[in-house]
Amino acid sequence: MNALEPLLEFLSIPSVSTDPAHKEDVRKAALWLAERLRERGFRTELHETPLHPILYAERLLDPKAPTVLVYGHYDVQPPDPLELWENPPFVPTVREGRVYARGASDDKGQLWAHVAALEGLPARVNVKFLVEGEEEIGSPSLLPFVREHREKLQADVVLISDGAMFAPFTPTLTCGLRGLAYLEVRLKGARRDLHSGSFGGVAPNPIQAMGWILSKLKDEKTGKILVPGLYDRVRPVSEEEKRLWPSLDEEALRRELGVEVLAGEEGYSPLERLWTRPTLDPNGIWGGYQGEGSKTVIPAEAGFKVSLRLVPDQDPEEVASQVEAYLREICPPGYTMEILRLHGGRPVLTDPFSPPMRLMARALEEVWGRPPVYTREGGTIPVVAELQDALHAPVVLLGLGLPDDNLHAPNEKFDLVNLEKGIAVLKRFYELLARGD
Ligand code: BES
Ligand code: MN
Ligand code: MN
Repeated sequence: MNALEPLLEFLSIPSVSTDPAHKEDVRKAALWLAERLRERGFRTELHETPLHPILYAERLLDPKAPTVLVYGHYDVQPPDPLELWENPPFVPTVREGRVYARGASDDKGQLWAHVAALEGLPARVNVKFLVEGEEEIGSPSLLPFVREHREKLQADVVLISDGAMFAPFTPTLTCGLRGLAYLEVRLKGARRDLHSGSFGGVAPNPIQAMGWILSKLKDEKTGKILVPGLYDRVRPVSEEEKRLWPSLDEEALRRELGVEVLAGEEGYSPLERLWTRPTLDPNGIWGGYQGEGSKTVIPAEAGFKVSLRLVPDQDPEEVASQVEAYLREICPPGYTMEILRLHGGRPVLTDPFSPPMRLMARALEEVWGRPPVYTREGGTIPVVAELQDALHAPVVLLGLGLPDDNLHAPNEKFDLVNLEKGIAVLKRFYELLARGD
């Protein structure tokens, strides 16, 4: 496939946005992509930010024709742990019809489908690209950029491929994304580490305090989050929407995860818990001696990171405030607590039957030979809610990845059949749009 060669080049650039050592590589990925778009007749602008550049590109052929805005991200997650990869993460390798590399699915492979689909595009459509290098760190520069450049970004439809199909060979239209609130909590006890014999009995222990605190965040029996007010803005899901959903093979999911029971909130199905309910999960924890062997010490400090996935109409700032207030309330006396807000993102809902969604459904059915399923996803893309607010244009979330793509994990991959079909679907979408169907 001639779309593959350039993708391998794109994937070999280690554009890890969170790692300052890769700052130049992130830029290199932006410049590489800009060049590919210029080759295809686009005018490109690289917007500098305090961190990684935003790439804006446009090919405006006919002011009366519909305009599509494509969003994607050229940054990737760190590749660690390296020893678990079968090929080096930035030496993209094709095995059994899949390309393995960091960013293969998230998001370079999916974004590349949109670039490759431009070949032989009908004249009666205008295309804009908005591509950032900070998605994996919460899009700090892109959110204000979108607010400031709403005129320039104006479009009739926003097209995004940065997610997954429900299952292999199952064309999928995604109608919602969860949001995110991410906090770090540091607990301090005594002014220094203390010998656990000399001082055990009188010394406060921040690891123990952390245990008490963590046990009060979620009810063990019902899985309910105990933060007051947290569910206040959770919008119930309509039966109508649930009827559109495909059915989940629970047994297969348990096998895939290697667990006997699925965790989560009582009273909701697994798909509801994955797509429509908020979650609270500690994501990291530290304190005391973590090395080999033993060291009898009561640490002066301990901490954890906690992420909450949010659903419409929860607001990340409001939720972070609710969590913060509750943490301070349950913090036992004798400890000081410091809370940092890391990043966040707003949840999203899209209209399953907006005109461009209907067109995309047609294109999907023609290419895959079966109509799409309608889903939501549990992950977060921070800029989507911002684009909805700023542009008032319908958003089409067309995930081209698969649930087993190993996003953010070793051996990330992208199935080449999804690249090929993805390109075909997008080309067909542009044809239908240009015809004014
Ligand atoms: N592409 C993902 C989001 C995603 C994952 C959408 C799975 C649909 C299914 C994106 O690159 C991502 O990883 N987002 C982060 C949020 C960000 C603020 C760090 C996430 O969801 O953790
Ligand atoms: Mn992504
Ligand atoms: Mn990601």
